[in-house]
Amino acid sequence: MTASALSTAHVPGFDDLDLDQLSHRTGVKWARAVAADSLPAWVADMDFPVAPAIRRCLVDLVERSDLGYPNWMGGTPLRAEFARRMSQRYGWHVDPDSVREQTDLIQALQLILRLRTNAGDAVAVQTPNYPPFLATVRAMGLQTVEFPFVEADDGWIPDFDAFDRALQRHRPKVLVLVNPHNPTGRVLTHAELALVAELAEQFDLLVISDEIHAELIYAPHRHIPFASLSADAAVRTVTITSASKSFNIAGLRCAVAHFGPQSLLTRRDAEPPDLYGAVSAPGVVATLAAWQHGQDWQDTLLRVLDRNRRHVHSVVTAALPAVRHHPPQATYLSWLDVSTLGIEEPVDHIRRRGHVMVDGGTSFGPAGGQYLRINFATSASILDRVLAGITTALSEGATNDSLRGH
Ligand SMILES: Cc1ncc(COP(=O)(O)O)c(C=O)c1O
Repeated sequence: MTASALSTAHVPGFDDLDLDQLSHRTGVKWARAVAADSLPAWVADMDFPVAPAIRRCLVDLVERSDLGYPNWMGGTPLRAEFARRMSQRYGWHVDPDSVREQTDLIQALQLILRLRTNAGDAVAVQTPNYPPFLATVRAMGLQTVEFPFVEADDGWIPDFDAFDRALQRHRPKVLVLVNPHNPTGRVLTHAELALVAELAEQFDLLVISDEIHAELIYAPHRHIPFASLSADAAVRTVTITSASKSFNIAGLRCAVAHFGPQSLLTRRDAEPPDLYGAVSAPGVVATLAAWQHGQDWQDTLLRVLDRNRRHVHSVVTAALPAVRHHPPQATYLSWLDVSTLGIEEPVDHIRRRGHVMVDGGTSFGPAGGQYLRINFATSASILDRVLAGITTALSEGATNDSLRGH
């Protein structure tokens, strides 16, 4: 089937989004885009209606006015459910007693960095990276050590030589590992993860493994929890995740952290209990519903996203042959190298000329200036409008005629 035919294969519930309704959403994705007279293809929220299982349990909670203080002595039911899910999906067996609730992954990251580092310490992060992670390291007065991805003909690969040199030179205490990776969409292989684990052991790194995109992977790629790699990886890794990306419920603010290092867990538990806030009943109920009853919805979602990622690739490469793009192996974000087009501020340019908000630029890392991140988690027809805005703006803005596709 061709990409354009795929884009017309209508998927009920996912492809009949109402633009007017979306424009009235109060979340940041649509609100900022509407204010900028643009369509949103930026922040990592999806446009699809919430999974029926999540909707039912939230409506039920409200209809029963069951919104008082939750009865969670000894932790929420998420601890056992997370352990069950890890064992079922990945054969990774964890002790529910080592799981803690956090409102979100940024909070989990900041808490762990606060417990493990002092100002001036070095922290290794992959680059490019999710901007709030890079901003967090800077804001906490920590030194950023880059573990860069480099672009090869067939996609993005981690540069282990550069990482090894950076480890020798800067001796970071912590590695923040994002796998599957935002923004490249890479899913690290077993061999790559094993190399990371070897270096983590050699340099005695605490690994904070962000696996928030793990359930949005396209076959044949598969997710391997970093902590499941070896006994050593297990005891030096804090795994942070949530249902917020794979079920599109980021506004409910609910995440989990699994602590391999027990001394760190003890320090975390010694903090005042509400210092970092607490998860809400709707957040926990929705996450449980997602993990227990959301599989059908997620299966359909992945088919739609797979179709969309192919469509982005075929439209971009046909309209702009000079733009480099590798279809992501996971998640709903495409990372495009537009450097050959010679456009000074491509993100601004697309907003002004194409009326589409995308992400990109140096907030993703020093080399990000000529890269764009496109969120393709929307209906076929909105995606076509988004892509038309982007390709037209880029093609009109290209300074070298020979680089335009038409
Ligand atoms: C890799 C990664 N980690 C964390 C987050 C944010 O998670 P949270 O909203 O739970 O802080 C995102 C959001 O897009 C992400 O892509």
